[in-house]
Amino acid sequence: MNTFDTVIHGGRVVTAADTFEADIGIRDGRIVAVAEGLEGGDRRIDARGRLVMPGGIEAHCHIAQESSSGIMTADDYYSGSVSAAFGGNSTFVPFAAQHRGQAIADVLSTYDGRAAPNSVLDYSYHLIISDPSPSVLDELPGVFERGITSFKVFMTYDLMNIGDGGMLDILTVAKRHGALTMVHAENNDMVKWMNRKLLDAGLDAPKYHAVSRPELAEEEAINRAVSLAKLVDAPLFIVHVSTRGGAEIVQREKLAGAKLFAETCPQYLALTRDDLDRPGMEGAKYICSPPLRDSETQAALWRHVQAGTFESVSSDHAPYRADETGKFLNGANAPYPKIANGMPGIAMRLPYLFSEGVLKGRITLQQFVGLSSSNAARTFGLTKKGAIAPGFDADIAIWNPDETRTVTAADQHDNMDYTPFEGLVVTGWPETVINHGELIVDKGTLVASRGRGRFIARAPTDLGGRPGYKAKEMQVLEALGMDIHS
Ligand code: URP
Ligand code: ZN
Ligand code: ZN
Repeated sequence: MNTFDTVIHGGRVVTAADTFEADIGIRDGRIVAVAEGLEGGDRRIDARGRLVMPGGIEAHCHIAQESSSGIMTADDYYSGSVSAAFGGNSTFVPFAAQHRGQAIADVLSTYDGRAAPNSVLDYSYHLIISDPSPSVLDELPGVFERGITSFKVFMTYDLMNIGDGGMLDILTVAKRHGALTMVHAENNDMVKWMNRKLLDAGLDAPKYHAVSRPELAEEEAINRAVSLAKLVDAPLFIVHVSTRGGAEIVQREKLAGAKLFAETCPQYLALTRDDLDRPGMEGAKYICSPPLRDSETQAALWRHVQAGTFESVSSDHAPYRADETGKFLNGANAPYPKIANGMPGIAMRLPYLFSEGVLKGRITLQQFVGLSSSNAARTFGLTKKGAIAPGFDADIAIWNPDETRTVTAADQHDNMDYTPFEGLVVTGWPETVINHGELIVDKGTLVASRGRGRFIARAPTDLGGRPGYKAKEMQVLEALGMDIHS
C-alpha cells in the first residue's frame, strides 16, 4: 500500500537552517516524511540535480486592486497567482484595500469575490486601512477573527494618508489582537512641496519623480513610524525600504529591541533612478514609490540584506500596463504625478534574489529561504508554511540551479506588457511548484485549475522574543490604571 500521495526523491533539500539530501513524502496536502530512500508514492517526482525548497511566500503584491486614484491593476487573482507560481511562489498575500467611506465588511467581500474563484495559489490578504473612523475600528476585531492579522497604512498619498493620530489608533487596536501594522513610510508634505517646486518650474518628465520623493522623506517617515509604534509598544513592519538611512534606522531599532520588521524589494537592489531617464516616456515604466535610488544605495541595501536587517525581499508587484489602461491613463505625455505608481515583478523576485544573491555569493542558500519564505511565514502568521518538515503544508519549489535565462516580458505569465528586468540574465529557475501537495507548475507547464487556491486564516505575528519598548509616559498612565489598548 502506498503511504504517500507524492514522493519527491533525489533532491537536495534546502531550509532556512540546513541543506541536506533527502526525499519528501506528502500525504493529504501535508509533508509527512523527510528521510532518505522513501519508497512508494502514487506520484514520484525526480529531483536529482535540483534544489528542493519551501515555496516562496510573496507578502507584498497588489492584485485586482484599484489604486487610490481608481486605476485597476493589470493582474487579477488568476494572472497574478499564475505569475507568482511561475516565479517559485506557492502562497501570496496581496492587499484588500479600503478606500475612504467603505465599510471593511464590503472591502473583504469584494476581495473574496476577486480571489476565491480565481487564485491558483493559497492566499490571504493584508487589509489596507485609509479611513480609521470609529466604525471602521469597531470592525477590526471581526477581521482578526477571520484570520486577517496584518494591516497596512500609508503616510503618503493624499487619499490614503491616515495621519499620525490615525496610525496610533490602528497600532493600538492591532496590538490588542496580536496583529501587525505595515506602513508605507514617506513624508507626504515633503513630497507635495517638492512636487509644487518641480511643476512650477515645468519639470514634469518621469525622471523628476525620483527628485520629488527625497530619501529624507522616507528616512523621516520611517523614524516617525517607529516612534509612533514604540509609544504604544506595537509591532510594526516597514514595507519597501529603499534608502540607506531608512535601513539604518530599522537596524538600530531592532538592535534596541523594538518589535520591528522590514523588507526591501528587488527593484531597489537592481535598478536606479537613471532608469527613469530612459528616452521618451520609457521612464514611466520605472515610476514607483518610494522611487528608485542610486548605485551607492543599492550596495548599502545589499549589505543590510546580508546583515539581516530585512525579514523579506518582496516584489511590491504593482502592475500597470504601459498603455492607456495603466501608466498612460492620463495621457501619453502625462506629467509624472499623473502616472500610476508601481511596477511588476512577482515572477522575478526569487530568480533575481537567487541569481544575484546566492550565486554571486552575497547571501547563503539558508538566507535565501529565510528572505523568500520562512521569515514571511513567521511574521505574517502562516504557521503551516515556510518550512520543509513533517506537519507543514506541502508547499515546495523545485529549482534548477544551473538554468540560465534572459528575462523577457513574455516569460512573466502576468497581464503586463513589460518587465523592468527585461534583458537581465539570471541563473537558477524554479521549474516545479507544489501548493498543498498539488502540482501547480510542472517543469515549466501550468497544471493548476483556476480557483483551487485556499484562503488561509493566519495567526498573530511571531515576535521572536523582541522585548519592545516601554515609554516612560505610558508607564505613568499604567500606574494611574489606564489601559491605552482597551
Ligand atoms: O509604487 C508603488 N509601490 N505602488 C504601489 C502602491 C504602494 O505604494 O505600495
Ligand atoms: Zn507602498
Ligand atoms: Zn506596495
